[in-house]
Amino acid sequence: MSEPSQQIHHINPSDLETFVHNILVGNGVSKEHATTISNCLVQADLRGVDTHGSNRIPSYMKRVRQKVLDPSATPELTQITPVVASVDGKNAFGFVSAHLGMERAIGMAQDFGIGMVSIKHSNHFGMSAWLVQQAIDAGMMSLVFTNSSPALPVWGGRSKLMGVSPIACGAPAGTERPFILDMAPSIAARGKIYKALRRGEKIPTDWALDGEGNLTDDPARALEGVMLPMGGPKGSALSIMMDVFSGVLSGSAFAGHVTNPYDPSKPADVGHFLIAIKPDLFMSLEDFKSRMDYLYQRVVGSEKMGGVERIYYPGEIEQITRDKRLVEGIPFTRAEIEALNEEAEVVGVERLRVE
Ligand SMILES: NC(=O)c1ccc[n+]([C@@H]2O[C@H](COP(=O)([O-])OP(=O)(O)OC[C@H]3O[C@@H](n4cnc5c(N)ncnc54)[C@H](O)[C@@H]3O)[C@@H](O)[C@H]2O)c1
Repeated sequence: MSEPSQQIHHINPSDLETFVHNILVGNGVSKEHATTISNCLVQADLRGVDTHGSNRIPSYMKRVRQKVLDPSATPELTQITPVVASVDGKNAFGFVSAHLGMERAIGMAQDFGIGMVSIKHSNHFGMSAWLVQQAIDAGMMSLVFTNSSPALPVWGGRSKLMGVSPIACGAPAGTERPFILDMAPSIAARGKIYKALRRGEKIPTDWALDGEGNLTDDPARALEGVMLPMGGPKGSALSIMMDVFSGVLSGSAFAGHVTNPYDPSKPADVGHFLIAIKPDLFMSLEDFKSRMDYLYQRVVGSEKMGGVERIYYPGEIEQITRDKRLVEGIPFTRAEIEALNEEAEVVGVERLRVE
């Protein structure tokens, strides 16, 4: 029998979205922006990316209350060439700036085949896959890059310098599942350590070093130390790549100067880099889609190694989780629901109810 605080309750996704929307509006976010943000967070919850969903509300609202994130800011879009635009996030929610940026990238790709948007002075935008999905919903391929606060040593280093910055991209398919890659360059995303801490769980010993540079299974000690990059120098290089394209190029913070989303002392100054590409530039859309379907079938139909029951396509596990959670609801621990309800009480909106 688990501790009462760790008991799991399933929440209806649309109830959750309304609840998150109301908290955001209660904290000074416009209804339009709150719709975007709550939708992105619940998309993460639905896909099983619990580390980057509604559970982030308390830390985001703390940033709003400390006045280091501007809930009412309107990002400013500038068209630079027919296929290039920039967004000054004006310290608004990262979700709002990135959504606007991808919308513009898609528009340019519809007209000219490709659209590139650089975003500065932004904030954490959560799970990258929602941006990839935004492009797929418009029939577009995409690249989605962001930088983030220091959490990872560069290869050979021992202190935090680069972010655990996810690299994401995607492409639509025909009748098969779309390709959605969304992966952080660490062995595990740092949000998974915060989740283990919240839930009183241990972490695998190869995820992070503690403050003294030793392997640890204790999430609190891991948060005092550094995450380990995936694939040694290769994960470290991918993280530097995210900083070049999202930080250096945009005019946002880079080289270890993005503020941690849990540090309420100053604005985050995150940068993002988005590209949308029309998939039928070199062949008919029908041919492209049938080639994507063939690729999917070849990948999942590949000969399996011992002990493997099923081969999954990138993003497929999350899409299966989404299908399940749309029916069964999204699981939250009682402690997580309580933390969210505390935010509801701060602004006097209706609490999330659990049976
Ligand atoms: N905004 C930020 O600053 C930030 C920072 C870090 C992470 N994140 C987000 O955190 C999330 C988690 O990242 P992560 O790297 O820990 O994800 P992950 O390790 O859970 O998954 C990474 C990828 O591997 C695929 N995958 C996992 N198991 C698989 C299997 N058995 N077969 C085939 N494919 C499989 C997934 O579908 C996914 O595409 C992402 O959504 C990311 O965008 C955001």
